[in-house]
Amino acid sequence: MKILTILGARPQFIKAGSVSREIAKHKNIEEIIVHTGQHYDANMSDIFFDEMQIPKPNYFLGIGGKSHGAMTGQMIEKIEEVALKEKPDWIMVYGDTNSTLAGAIVASKLHIKLAHIEAGLRSFNMQMPEEVNRILTDRVSTVLFCPTETAVENLKAEGFPFSLTTNHKQLITNVGDVMQDGAMFYKNLAVKPSIIQTSKANIQNYILCTIHRAENTDDEIRLKNIFESLNEIAKEKQVILPLHPRTKKILKNLKLNIENLTIIDPVGYLEMIWLIDNCSLVMTDSGGLQKEAYFFEKPCITLRDETEWVELVECGANTLVGADKKKILEAYKTHQPLTTTHQSLDLYGDGKASEKIIRKLLEY
Ligand code: UD1
Ligand code: UDP
Repeated sequence: MKILTILGARPQFIKAGSVSREIAKHKNIEEIIVHTGQHYDANMSDIFFDEMQIPKPNYFLGIGGKSHGAMTGQMIEKIEEVALKEKPDWIMVYGDTNSTLAGAIVASKLHIKLAHIEAGLRSFNMQMPEEVNRILTDRVSTVLFCPTETAVENLKAEGFPFSLTTNHKQLITNVGDVMQDGAMFYKNLAVKPSIIQTSKANIQNYILCTIHRAENTDDEIRLKNIFESLNEIAKEKQVILPLHPRTKKILKNLKLNIENLTIIDPVGYLEMIWLIDNCSLVMTDSGGLQKEAYFFEKPCITLRDETEWVELVECGANTLVGADKKKILEAYKTHQPLTTTHQSLDLYGDGKASEKIIRKLLEY
């Protein structure tokens, strides 16, 4: 069996770490990795391949830093060339980025079976590029690997599975979350970041924060509210913020008071895991980090109006505050450590999602 894996952005490298490790156990599976180049800085890309021992990409397309249309269009053209040459049995895509959508379109046009990992998630906000990418990818997927029961229910509510023709029958299956696999596997390999070794960081009593989502970075008022609130909080508790290059570029042109924040460059996954495991609170607009906070038993305040990971909000592990200053400060003041009740919930599977995914593909 030959799988053409499409990767392009940071969270996809992290998810692929666990699945590629599983694929490597099977002599009868060949994985060909295509890196679209959507993320290209060494600390947004290469570092993950190195430290998670993901095989070096067989193809690097070099398509990053462009508008949505240009990026997705150029990826479709190049991935199609690779797929025609390699003739894979499956194209495998992760999550909801432009690289995901490009891979999905190529698979559907060339009649190659499409496996979508992290299928069925919805924010119900069509303004988000990620929501559009997910909906379109799910619609043409052959096997939809859902990470949660909520994701399965979302698909059912939209009329999935579609089996309108004999040659497009969809299989929907909840295998758990591949990020849970990764967190469990890499936890013991966590590395203390050099910034912590050298700074006066108050180890184990800092807030870990990330901001990069378009709905925040591309809206000056939201971004201002978020950073002013964080700066206020940082007067009493250290806020460590590994800054995404997108946010860095936008902040440069805004005159915001962020002097109290500890802003660092993006870190690799092993350092990130250390930062999560040792913080007292996570504040983020990231999708993946909301779950990782829970895996490492940390409360999370989410700087978005909605989340795909609703089960975390329902159980009280995550508080949604949007970009509202009052709500952000209130959530910070009232946050509580997670309790044993939160930890006993089995929300994202048993850490064997990758194994289940590969078994299903072999059976299909
Ligand atoms: C993308 C995903 C988003 C995901 C995020 C993970 C889409 C539509 N969005 O957002 O869902 O949460 O990745 O991090 O696919 N840049 C660099 N160096 C890099 C990468 C990006 O400088 O290595 C800068 C470039 O100016 C680029 C901008 O960041 O134009 C945005 O990058 P892009 O890949 O378009 O979107 P992300 O915001 O990273
Ligand atoms: N991450 C990382 N280094 C950083 C910031 C994030 O390794 O400096 C990891 C984070 O722990 C998570 C993944 O990147 O595993 C999430 O990616 P991101 O927040 O960029 O995207 P999203 O999940 O929102 O799509």
